[in-house]
Amino acid sequence: MNRDRQKFRSIRLAKVAIAAVGLAILGIDARGETAIVEGYSTGTKSRDGLGRYYFGREIAHFMSHEAAPWLDRPEREREERPDLVIESLRLKPGDRVADLGCGTGYFSSRLAKAVGPRGVVYGVEIQAEMLKILKVRMSEQGIANVVGVLGSVDDPGLPEPVDLVLIVDVYHEMSHPAEMIAAVCRHLKPGGRIAFVEYRAEDPEVPIKRLHKMTEAQIRREMTVQPLDFVETVSTLPRQHLVVFRKRPDPVR
Ligand SMILES: C[S@@+](CC[C@H](N)C(=O)[O-])C[C@H]1O[C@@H](n2cnc3c(N)ncnc32)[C@H](O)[C@@H]1O
Repeated sequence: MNRDRQKFRSIRLAKVAIAAVGLAILGIDARGETAIVEGYSTGTKSRDGLGRYYFGREIAHFMSHEAAPWLDRPEREREERPDLVIESLRLKPGDRVADLGCGTGYFSSRLAKAVGPRGVVYGVEIQAEMLKILKVRMSEQGIANVVGVLGSVDDPGLPEPVDLVLIVDVYHEMSHPAEMIAAVCRHLKPGGRIAFVEYRAEDPEVPIKRLHKMTEAQIRREMTVQPLDFVETVSTLPRQHLVVFRKRPDPVR
């Protein structure tokens, strides 16, 4: 009798364990409230980091709007070759594009020229102060097709689906990378692309703080959980790589 009860208890425990694993894979916790997103952990907090890790990478603090002048430094053209970035993206006139984490609009203005007056660039930010600077910069340059969007840390809040989301020197400091990229994928048109520009962590000569650089392998690893297919890595930039993915088509039902 006792043995039977023990056996019954073991079966019940095994069932509970299997259910817990299943729910965790589905992203639902035991109360059905908090989403458990694969890949996050907590650990040692460095000076520039959050102590929050994603796929073993510590997430960096985001850059304050107080440092905005650094984004418009004249030597940036030589250090980052934004012209090569834009050329590599092969945009078409009329394209809808988002510059996610646009800062002062250094790339928004270049994207705006590439998509022409029929195209639109959504400059997305989580800092309203950056959007104020964006507005001033675009009007100084006579650019009318850049629209500022105040997003949240896990959703860009775009008003319409886009052909491309460009993320320059931002992804490593997103506090919710999994949720944000999943949301970006929902905002992409079918066949739409997402392009990451990050300082090369493979290269110790690149004079940027450790948490503000990423390896190509790490970017690709983190995208394996997203509905994205790898397209290419452009390695012609002086200090960064440009890693491009395409939204995977929905499975045929
Ligand atoms: C280093 S700056 C880069 C700005 C711009 N992309 C450039 O290359 O000039 C990073 C910017 O990303 C923004 N940012 C960080 N996390 C963000 C998120 N989850 N969504 C939108 N913007 C974000 C920050 O507010 C900051 O302005």
